[in-house]
Amino acid sequence: METEQHPAKYVDESVIHMAELMTPELENFSGKVHGGAILSLLDKVAYVCACRYSGAYCVTVAVDHVEFRAPVQVGEVLHFTARVVQVGRTSMDVEILVESQELISGAMRHTNTCFFTLVAMRDGKSAPVPPLAARTPEDQERLEHGRMRREAREEYRSRIRPAR
Ligand SMILES: CC(C)(COP(=O)(O)OP(=O)(O)OC[C@H]1O[C@@H](n2cnc3c(N)ncnc32)[C@H](O)[C@@H]1OP(=O)(O)O)[C@@H](O)C(=O)NCCC(=O)NCCS
Repeated sequence: METEQHPAKYVDESVIHMAELMTPELENFSGKVHGGAILSLLDKVAYVCACRYSGAYCVTVAVDHVEFRAPVQVGEVLHFTARVVQVGRTSMDVEILVESQELISGAMRHTNTCFFTLVAMRDGKSAPVPPLAARTPEDQERLEHGRMRREAREEYRSRIRPAR
């Protein structure tokens, strides 16, 4: 499976890991890590993953399914695992798994899995990205879920109208 411009890439080739210490300036009014700070980090992680996959500068066009399942404490380390799980012609869906680690015990908690959509840009225009392939059953499942998420999103986008 190849396009004229790009050979296909595998989901596992797109995987990146990033980690960040949660420092006191990220604290919200209740002493936990501010959700907006985590969103900003997620956007950076998605950017790194999509740029590496496409070999191009990328912009975020959509964010799906961010939820904060458990509070993140100042002093913990957030671990991000990101991979491309579906692509269109110029867009990529990046899945990000977020885990929070308590440093002294080493205990890890899953706090979120979310999906960012980014578009590759060249010379100020959206540009083609490599086709995506899977070589494990788990990645095949990710591709299939990604396809269903895209279909649902397109159906939703076709129904919404800008507010007057
Ligand atoms: C990215 C951008 C240049 C695309 O413009 P465009 O090329 O005219 O738009 P297109 O309609 O051809 O869309 C390009 C791709 O983006 C996808 N896309 C665009 N808006 C999307 C959205 N809201 N959700 C999901 N996908 C979207 C399209 O489906 C298409 O994907 P495909 O090529 O894989 O089929 C334009 O939407 C933009 O500048 N957006 C703002 C990005 C930005 O500034 N992000 C930072 C946050 S402010």
